[in-house]
Amino acid sequence: MLKDKNILIGITGGIAAYKICELIRMYKRAEANVKVVCTQNAMNFVTKTTLQSLSQNDVGIEHFNIDDFKIEHIAYTDWADIMVVAPASANTISKIANGIADNLLTSTVCAFRKPIIIVPAMNTGMWENPIIQENVEKLKKLNYTIIDPETGFLACGANGKGRLCDNDLIFDTTDKILNPKLKKKSKIIITAGGTIEDIDPVRYISNYSSGKMGLAIADCAYNQGFEVVLITTKEVEKPYKTIQVKSALDMQQAIDKEFKTANYIVMAAAVADYKVKNKSTQKLKKTSADEITLTLTKNPDILKNLCNKKTKQTIVGFCAESENLEKNALQKIKNKGCDYLVANDISRNDIGFNSDYNEVMIFSKNGNVKKLQKAKKTEIAKSILDTILK
Ligand code: PMT
Repeated sequence: MLKDKNILIGITGGIAAYKICELIRMYKRAEANVKVVCTQNAMNFVTKTTLQSLSQNDVGIEHFNIDDFKIEHIAYTDWADIMVVAPASANTISKIANGIADNLLTSTVCAFRKPIIIVPAMNTGMWENPIIQENVEKLKKLNYTIIDPETGFLACGANGKGRLCDNDLIFDTTDKILNPKLKKKSKIIITAGGTIEDIDPVRYISNYSSGKMGLAIADCAYNQGFEVVLITTKEVEKPYKTIQVKSALDMQQAIDKEFKTANYIVMAAAVADYKVKNKSTQKLKKTSADEITLTLTKNPDILKNLCNKKTKQTIVGFCAESENLEKNALQKIKNKGCDYLVANDISRNDIGFNSDYNEVMIFSKNGNVKKLQKAKKTEIAKSILDTILK
């Protein structure tokens, strides 16, 4: 969708500058034209040669290069359909917010009258500085698209908010802005995390699902313009609708409320097949007995029930297996009646539960099978959505 679009990337001086090399490749793979303009400080983190090779264009750094009698920053504003400032340092954000135009990048932004995406990345202390926050708010009010930084390990060794967001999000945001009408306003429900079945007020039965797989699908769908409802057992803060649930029954109730108006549902949650039959309202006391018995009773099969009552929805199940992945997945897709089944091997430590990676096979009800090599869950999420949208 970005084919032949002209994207101007502004890189400022921050360690996250190296990540923008991959972003340039992503735009180029999408057949967009890319030009890069950098601050002098950005050159401490990436080289001009790298950026030139990746973008296949000259890189602008100096302010007063007059080429072909064009004023350089104005030539950029004429050429580009969109400008993406990433990483945007505290310094550059503050300059932009105050109309300062003292280098090629800030002069270009100042003159630019088309959409601008600003992707901040900095140390947590700088990000939380009220002056920076005020400047960011000012830019938001002025219709700049700001993609907030993520929380995680930072180059300075601290753990906090300030890390550059995923390139996928920058890419999808660019796509969404440049192709607003192409994105369908479809509603998608995604479940994530392991359900929690109480034994008593203190103990419970659950599983190792971290919710990462479901979350990656929800983020990807949101970035692609879907109306997203994430139903998860984990606490998350997202710009789309999230409903936190605990048990399988809670999850079923939450889904039922949203299901009728949904176009897609992806059941990535690890739902307990059984719950405790008579859960105790009081903490169970230790007795003299060496063994105790918990009686479990079946939970509803949420996925199967949805498939039985579906109208227009495309329904995607997941399949977690520790052996005979393919054989069990084929049985499961038939048994559940879903349109697609994403099967993963949860006996491996490097994929599946609680890993940032997965390796899956996507089975479709008409017998097609697609194998996705091991990749980040964000990449797998993209491929799953691509497959079900086709
Ligand atoms: O959360 P992560 O740490 O990122 O890990 C991801 C994952 C391994 C949990 C995920 O990729 C995955 O495999 N999710 C499905 C786990 C599961 O419950 O698989 P299952 O084979 O037991 O169930 C098959 C399908 O039926 C699943 O879509 C499940 O959501 C659904 N189900 C299961 C039981 C039940 N009572 N109701 C259901 O709807």
